[in-house]
Amino acid sequence: MSTPPRQKRFTPADISALKGIRPIVSLTAYTTPVARILDRHCDLLLVGDSLGMVLYGMDTTVGVSMDMMIAHGQATMRGASRACVIVDLPFGSYQESKEQAFRNSVRLMKETGCDGVKLEGGEEMAETVAFLVSRGVPVFGHIGLMPQQVNTSGGYRSKGHSEAEQDKIRRDARAIDEAGAFAMVIEGTVEPLAREITANVAAATIGIGASPACDGQVLVSDDMLGLFNEFKPRFVKHFSALANVIDKAVADYAEEVKARSFPGPEHTFQIRTKK
Ligand code: KIV
Repeated sequence: MSTPPRQKRFTPADISALKGIRPIVSLTAYTTPVARILDRHCDLLLVGDSLGMVLYGMDTTVGVSMDMMIAHGQATMRGASRACVIVDLPFGSYQESKEQAFRNSVRLMKETGCDGVKLEGGEEMAETVAFLVSRGVPVFGHIGLMPQQVNTSGGYRSKGHSEAEQDKIRRDARAIDEAGAFAMVIEGTVEPLAREITANVAAATIGIGASPACDGQVLVSDDMLGLFNEFKPRFVKHFSALANVIDKAVADYAEEVKARSFPGPEHTFQIRTKK
């Protein structure tokens, strides 16, 4: 019997080739069991530095380290066999110089086996993007609202409301596109600008709070699964209410433990009698 063909993993080139063909489906992933589920439905899994806030309860992504990204990149790779997996370069691991960016990108790719890296920034990062791409590192850009710059950019507000801001984001998109990014996240950006950028760059645009005009969409998986009830940004849709599901399951468990109805006989070991 012949071996069934291996299902091929999407490469960064496959992702950019989807531009204009069909919308690209992407979510964040951080752990093996969740990556296994997402992998069946997503073209692109992003091990985002949002993990600092989502998994570790940090207030921003600024405190995320290379070691955290490597550990969760490895965990995600163990669960993903067909989606393209991209790992975020955390704050401070690439802004100093293109050499620093290359060193840390290589570390992420070698130690996790991921398909490329994501970094935030436009014009100011274009030289770095070109340096990485020309040396074999596929780069996923990130423009518009850039969470790693939250301390200098005035917080998590949507972008592109003034002419000046639109011009800047337009220039950012053009710069990293020309530098060779295979795709770019456009975050928290007004629809007309996201539409215009999508029409004018070769890279695939992946929107988060940037309208359906983008070539694809990404969300933080824990957000779209409804794990956080306290706050829902405008651009998030809850496709489930997992926080309520978990709350109910844990309440049922606590009740059964207190009533001694769990564990039942089917969960309990008895001494085996020898025949
Ligand atoms: O860190 C992250 O999860 C991201 C996505 C929100 C695009 O950058």
